Amino acid sequence: MPKKLFIKTYGCQMNVYDSARMADVLAALGYVFADQADGADMVILNTCHIREKAAEKVYSELGRLRHLKNARKQKDGGRMILAVAGCVAQAEGAEIIGRAPYVDMVFGPQTYHRLPEMVARAERHTGAVLDIDFPAEPKFDHLPAQTRAEGKSAFLTVQEGCDKFCTFCVVPYTRGTEYSRPAADVIGEAKQLVGGGALEITLLGQNVNCYHGTAADGAEWGLGRLIAQLAEIDGLERIRYTTSYPADMSDELIAAHRDVPQLMPFLHLPVQSGSNRVLAAMNRRHGVDEYRRLTDRLRAARPDLALSSDFIVGFPGETDADFEATMKLIRDVDFIQAYSFKYSPRPGTPAAAMEIQVDDDVKTARLAALQDLLNEQQVAFNQSCQGRVMPVLLDRPGKHPGQLVGRSPYMQPVHVDVPTDAPDNLFGTIADLRIVAGYANSLAGVLVAHEDGAAQRAGA
Ligand code: 5AD
Ligand code: SF4
Repeated sequence: MPKKLFIKTYGCQMNVYDSARMADVLAALGYVFADQADGADMVILNTCHIREKAAEKVYSELGRLRHLKNARKQKDGGRMILAVAGCVAQAEGAEIIGRAPYVDMVFGPQTYHRLPEMVARAERHTGAVLDIDFPAEPKFDHLPAQTRAEGKSAFLTVQEGCDKFCTFCVVPYTRGTEYSRPAADVIGEAKQLVGGGALEITLLGQNVNCYHGTAADGAEWGLGRLIAQLAEIDGLERIRYTTSYPADMSDELIAAHRDVPQLMPFLHLPVQSGSNRVLAAMNRRHGVDEYRRLTDRLRAARPDLALSSDFIVGFPGETDADFEATMKLIRDVDFIQAYSFKYSPRPGTPAAAMEIQVDDDVKTARLAALQDLLNEQQVAFNQSCQGRVMPVLLDRPGKHPGQLVGRSPYMQPVHVDVPTDAPDNLFGTIADLRIVAGYANSLAGVLVAHEDGAAQRAGA
């Protein structure tokens, strides 16, 4: 009998990728995906530590799972192996086993290729298994080939870890030092994904644009070169990459935005703040003017490029004037989408020890003002799409019968009601849609092919 595996994934897209690869490793041990924790033989929480109360949320989720674990045992004597993976596991380590002794495995983001060994130990009941090493051997060298059907839009990790040490961020501590996968491995995995039906690949990395993988001839490739090579894969229609660090945007990568049509005209380029003083205190290696120049150069390379960013308000010492500078940068650059957060002190990071912490009331007010402005820009962009024809990757069913949902080049969800006389094989394809409405968070479109067909029929 196959064993049932439930994985709950928190946080970033890299965790989504990691969860899928863990499932690949566990498939070889007879585990198949289940869609709920109740009755599962193994439950993994793949956790995120980026913002406040992350660990507390994991402990309360563990409390709930403990009841399911006990219920399972009472019902049929079965055992649920309970595991905590990801960045909270890395940061909390043995503390988790101390506070939640019913947890069977705790392992960090760099060790899941060792899962077979960990599972064998957990199954033998020899006490909780803890593995939060940063192994010398990269996990990618020890993972099985992908077994899952990825769908039409797939993630592919090309780079991991971070050496930047922004003073607010836990990532350098939880994900470890920067590492780029060899180019041939990335291209091989991309070909497999496309062979499995993927039309779109998003290249992932904490600092994806500092990618510097070794190529087969020993040369070092940057992300621009890698993207140009990936674009040669037949059937790969769309390429994206995230998340980028402004100071690592090379000429070659900017040129890729001009030269590679498959590279989508949408870039997530977090700036965090519009004040040079705050950027310096954050240990960001770029100033506001560099960021502005960079966005100008990117738009010159690809005039239809649109930008998204992350912002932190209330970083220690942030004044009203600093905050105003951020608002000005947003007005000047114009973002079609953004994530924004109140600064939260993360234990062990330098900013947490900085003296002048900003009051929560002030953070709340600044966040509201900033989000209002960003929302305005997002809605304005969505509305400006009305009348445009966009290629949309239709990869989800909509809420209503006959409706499909897909992503525009700019990652906007687009809904379309498929007419009854349209071809029924649109699902999983990229179709041209004319945008008929732009809302706060999505667009509505109609099939251009059908419009033409309807016009022809009307004219005949
Ligand atoms: N407080 C608030 N936001 C943070 N981020 C990272 N660390 C913190 C923190 N301590 C945000 C940054 C980053 C995004 C992934 O999360 O904006 O780009
Ligand atoms: Fe964190 Fe800065 Fe590294 Fe991004 S670049 S992962 S914000 S330390």
